[in-house]
Amino acid sequence: MSYPNHGCSDEMKSFLLDLPKCEHHLHLEGTLGPELLFPLAKRNNISFPDDFPKTEEELADTYEKFEGLDGFLKYYYISMAVLITEQDFFDLAWTYFTRVHKEGLVHAEVFFDPQGHTDRGVHIDVVVSGFKKACIKAENELGISTKLIMCLLRHMPVSHCEETIQDSKKHFENGTIQGLGLDSSEANFPPELFIECYKTVSGFHPDVKLTAHAGEESGAINVVTALDKLNVTRIDHGINSVEDPELMKRLSDEKVMLTICPVSNWKIQLVKDISELPFQKLLDADVPFSINSDDPAYFRNYILDTFILVQKSFGWDMKTWVKISKNSIRGSWMEPERMKLLEDKVDQIYAKYN
Ligand code: HPA
Ligand code: ZN
Repeated sequence: MSYPNHGCSDEMKSFLLDLPKCEHHLHLEGTLGPELLFPLAKRNNISFPDDFPKTEEELADTYEKFEGLDGFLKYYYISMAVLITEQDFFDLAWTYFTRVHKEGLVHAEVFFDPQGHTDRGVHIDVVVSGFKKACIKAENELGISTKLIMCLLRHMPVSHCEETIQDSKKHFENGTIQGLGLDSSEANFPPELFIECYKTVSGFHPDVKLTAHAGEESGAINVVTALDKLNVTRIDHGINSVEDPELMKRLSDEKVMLTICPVSNWKIQLVKDISELPFQKLLDADVPFSINSDDPAYFRNYILDTFILVQKSFGWDMKTWVKISKNSIRGSWMEPERMKLLEDKVDQIYAKYN
């Protein structure tokens, strides 16, 4: 469907561009779009299954809509095959950072899925090194602060997750990887399967941060379990939390931020339209959330377009965006001085337009 322009004047678009934006839910492998996929496949001599789209245009058409989360994940995992060398991982992440820098992104806590690579014989050190170099360059040259979050693929055997954790240990210990997450198909792989994994990683470093995808395609119960049993301090997606009033109160009281990805939810058809998402309920209940792009190359919307689509759907005033932006900064895993600087920047941008 196409979105009408109500609630999104040119002035509002300019305000949304100027706002300092944070992403907390961005899979680096989800920035691998058709325009990079085919050249990388050529560079590394990789071929795809026979029924895989043959051209950039065909692939982009396929990405218009996905049959649920698994419908998307099928393409996501096949495409990863083109990532082999440290340079490939660096190029992928650096392309993302340079793009969103132009859209006003100032802080990025980014996910990666080592098991999607180690399973193909690519060593985790190659993956981490390429991504980390891009993070450092983004900090130095673009002023984007970053955190690297390793996700466990919940559809893989827990023993494989445990091996990955051991292989990643030194990267947590030296602070290269700063957080642990959990992604992939939620429906048949509940958070309680990963209790030991989370316990192990939280022992690697006193500052390690924990999050998990929960309440995306399954119910609020997975959010409760992730909080209670995995000890996460943040929830990725979490839109189904609105089913449970007690949980909503807890998220508000304990300031647990939901990292919401509206275009992703729409493109994998969890909702028919972005306007169906429970943003108003979250605002009314004072549950903090951030707005994120998830896998922008697949869902065809990077961060600024995501903000604009949300604005077109909800027609918020600038004060509401200030509240959302500040919650997004406060829910970040950044140092307090940077938090203060970015909050002040939000106030300055608001003052510029009011
Ligand atoms: N959900 C689950 N798994 C994923 C996602 C997501 O949003 N993106 C990449 N892997
Ligand atoms: Zn995600």
